Amino acid sequence: MIKILNVVGARPNFMKMAPIIADIKRRAGRMSQSLIHTGQHYDETMSLAFFRDLDLPLPDVDLGVGSGTHAEQTARVMLAFEPVLLEQRPDWVVVVGDVNSTLACALVASKLGIRVAHVEAGLRSFDRTMPEEINRVLTDQIADLLLTPSRDADANLLCEGIRPERIVRVGNVMIDTLFRSLEAAKKSDILEVLNLQPRQFAVLTLHRPANVDAAATLRGIFSALGEIASRLPIVFPAHPRTQLRLREFGIEQPRGLMILEPMGYLDFLHLWSNARLVMTDSGGLQEETTALAVQCLTLRDNTERPITVEQGTNKVTGRDPARIIEAATEVLRDSRPAQTRVPELWDGRAAERIVEALLNADLEERAGERESGRAGELTESS
Ligand code: UD1
Repeated sequence: MIKILNVVGARPNFMKMAPIIADIKRRAGRMSQSLIHTGQHYDETMSLAFFRDLDLPLPDVDLGVGSGTHAEQTARVMLAFEPVLLEQRPDWVVVVGDVNSTLACALVASKLGIRVAHVEAGLRSFDRTMPEEINRVLTDQIADLLLTPSRDADANLLCEGIRPERIVRVGNVMIDTLFRSLEAAKKSDILEVLNLQPRQFAVLTLHRPANVDAAATLRGIFSALGEIASRLPIVFPAHPRTQLRLREFGIEQPRGLMILEPMGYLDFLHLWSNARLVMTDSGGLQEETTALAVQCLTLRDNTERPITVEQGTNKVTGRDPARIIEAATEVLRDSRPAQTRVPELWDGRAAERIVEALLNADLEERAGERESGRAGELTESS
């Protein structure tokens, strides 16, 4: 029986982990799993709501680390995670994405000699000012099994000197959750509640430190949003960090921009999938809009998901207000449906491939151990 310890910590982890757990449960005779929540995200709207919407089992252990500086948060996760690992001694620790919890748990496991699998490996923005980029690069260096969503991710890993046998391209597991949730999301009444008609509104998410932590940048982005909102209402479920900064900097809510509390997965899926335009600085939403052919503007200078620009509906605008307005105007001018080519292996079956990769790596490891055992016996007897 292979024992898997799955780690989640922050909002974007939950939708990546849900299908992996479901697949492990289907193979109950061969594998078992336990779920650890680091507690990096802890508000009901940032955490528990997703467990309900995604049918995730409640965590077996909640480390309850909460917020802090990067060093505080990473260190607290490490301190709290180590005793859990020592007690559970799993065969694999599975971490997903690029948040502080991802790196912290990968580091602890790797130093204890417990194998680490990283789901969503190989993505690179090549922007080391982003905390997520540091988390990605370091996690990929220490993980034993690198499970990538796309070809560009494989290429990035190979360029960093990672051996090809550690890399398995499995596709995009978040798209598994997206496809599985479409029917349930249709039951959401969010459009009626907000009095919106399909394709007659835009959706915004904004929470990156580089966008919201400096008053001048956030003011600039909001001036652009005010201009766009005078033409098309914008719905903005706002991350707690952004709500705080808007209050701190005294930035007023432009007319036509609806600032709401963060939303659960199903309501939010129903909302953005009916939008005329999505504007975001999130990573996941760039991929989700590509999968469903919804126009997306990424309000950042770069993306670690270039495939969404090459094949999908994504345009990277930067944060210059004039450029954001121009890009939105271009989208609104063209009423034809967006063109998209859903990337290869974004087919709803990534979780299956992830779990198979774990099983195969385990078989190879055990075969290797048997081989070296036999070689040892031969050397001793010769
Ligand atoms: C984290 C991830 C980011 C991801 C984002 C999704 C890192 C480095 N960043 O950023 O990659 O895109 O999650 O949301 O791991 N807060 C609450 N309630 C919560 C959680 C956070 O109020 O449940 C507030 C706190 O004031 C906290 C701040 O949000 O200090 C930032 O939270 P944190 O987990 O440090 O980073 P995120 O900005 O959420």
